[in-house]
Amino acid sequence: MYRNFAIVPNIMFGRGAFNQLGDVLAPKRVTEGGYVVFVIDDVFKDKPIESRLPIEGDDLLLRVNVDDEPKTSYIDKLVEEIRAYKDVVPDGIIGIGGGSTMDIAKAISLMLNNPGSSADYQGWDLIENPSVYHVAVPTLAGTGAEISRTAILTGPVKKLGINSDYTLFHQIILDPELIADVPKDQWFYTGMDCYIHDVESLEGTFINEFSKAYGEKSIDLCRQVFLEDHKDKDDKLMMASYFGGMSIAYSQVGACHALSYGLSYVLGIHHGIGCCIAFDYLEEFYPEGVKEFRRMMERHDISLPRNLTAGMSDESLDLMVTTALGLVPLWENCLGPDWEKQMTRERTLELYKRM
Ligand SMILES: NC(=O)c1ccc[n+]([C@@H]2O[C@H](COP(=O)([O-])OP(=O)(O)OC[C@H]3O[C@@H](n4cnc5c(N)ncnc54)[C@H](O)[C@@H]3O)[C@@H](O)[C@H]2O)c1
Ligand SMILES: [Fe+2]
Repeated sequence: MYRNFAIVPNIMFGRGAFNQLGDVLAPKRVTEGGYVVFVIDDVFKDKPIESRLPIEGDDLLLRVNVDDEPKTSYIDKLVEEIRAYKDVVPDGIIGIGGGSTMDIAKAISLMLNNPGSSADYQGWDLIENPSVYHVAVPTLAGTGAEISRTAILTGPVKKLGINSDYTLFHQIILDPELIADVPKDQWFYTGMDCYIHDVESLEGTFINEFSKAYGEKSIDLCRQVFLEDHKDKDDKLMMASYFGGMSIAYSQVGACHALSYGLSYVLGIHHGIGCCIAFDYLEEFYPEGVKEFRRMMERHDISLPRNLTAGMSDESLDLMVTTALGLVPLWENCLGPDWEKQMTRERTLELYKRM
């Protein structure tokens, strides 16, 4: 009846915490002739953060590209690359970047110890063998990927996470200094992912005191970040992301995430901006949240792309509707057990046509 969920066991928080990564890794370097793989977003190529990595001996610097959100084929290719580099399993996988890079690091650490393609494991608790030790160093805040038990991947037939307790990071290092230089639009979109997690969790039918405790703190921090001025806003957003992730871990997201999955699967729209696009049309589900979201957009001078579905074929629109409605627990959380009566294909299509 009740989910018994695991969480990340080791957490470091604070400005400059990244400097301690070398100390964290030292006791994990146990294999003779072993190595650690630093999986880093290629946006940081030759940037100061790369020269600060505690690289030793045969460690591998693996720059990854996240122009497209992570695909199972990309994970399989990266795992092959690591296997070809050395025939021992690395002592650690360190993911440095936003939600996409963190998910890539999670998926690699799982696939190094499990046979086949990452696409075989999209679903719930399909992973059999524990992952390689893996660490996250977020450089963007909002997704909650740093604490979630999923690595979201787009596969040949679906966009679905590898959900398992083994997916969880063993260690996260939350250093607010690392999110200081994110371009404003991206900062806003990923931050709103967190705000929307909170609204969907707090307004959902699955809500309970556990999720409420985390969700209320997270949404309060989001308000401070996006509606007020604070010099420690980066610290606040990092904690909002963590708390938002903890909130949905014991409840669920809702209508906005379901619709954004459709946008992402069919049009390749990234998660954060996709959530913003969808949320703007969801006043009927989340009246107060949408109003506040628009105030946040206005304050930060954000304009969202419009008319995305205008030229789409009926088949593509149909696929988008099917993708969104396939996310049963999200609709159940949003509308209750009789959600299917309320959320018809027609109503879903109408919403998409307005986007
Ligand atoms: N596992 C989970 O629980 C979970 C939850 C929500 C979303 N996600 C996934 O996370 C991804 C979205 O993550 P995101 O919103 O953090 O963005 P992202 O990781 O996709 O990165 C977005 C852009 O920001 C750039 N970037 C990252 N850090 C930067 C920095 N410090 N300075 C400048 N540019 C930087 C990246 O290069 C990229 O161009 C999606 O793939 C989504 O599916 C996962
Ligand atoms: Fe999200």
